[in-house]
Amino acid sequence: MNAAAPAARPRCPDFMAIQSIAIQHPIDPRPHMTKVVYIEFSGKEHVIDVENGETLMQAAVDNRVPGIIGDCGGSCTCATCHAYVDAAWLGKLPAASEDETMTLEGALDVEPNSRLTCQLVVKPELDGIVIRLPKSQF
Ligand code: FES
Repeated sequence: MNAAAPAARPRCPDFMAIQSIAIQHPIDPRPHMTKVVYIEFSGKEHVIDVENGETLMQAAVDNRVPGIIGDCGGSCTCATCHAYVDAAWLGKLPAASEDETMTLEGALDVEPNSRLTCQLVVKPELDGIVIRLPKSQF
């Protein structure tokens, strides 16, 4: 019986090339996150990394951003998630549905850039989106 240490296993011939690529192109530690800037009516900013697929309303509620209430839990019936989307981002959002448009009619101080944040899903193309909150939801 041979008590000598086992021979080192041969490395995959491409190991060094793969290691080199990994070093040159580090993996983003937050690949599923998109930055959202919420601005309260007072001007106070909340910059939050939001998981893609989450709504702007849920992210605001989860991160305790004042001014977004989300009373109906995102079923598009309360309008307490009303906010203003900065003009630069409006074109990157899907058009409001008939339900959203009807519910939005119940919000205060509606403007052309008003949206219900429970209807807006975060995606990578929205990185840096600016959402301004109304003075009040009631
Ligand atoms: S959370 Fe109720 S309409 Fe958006």
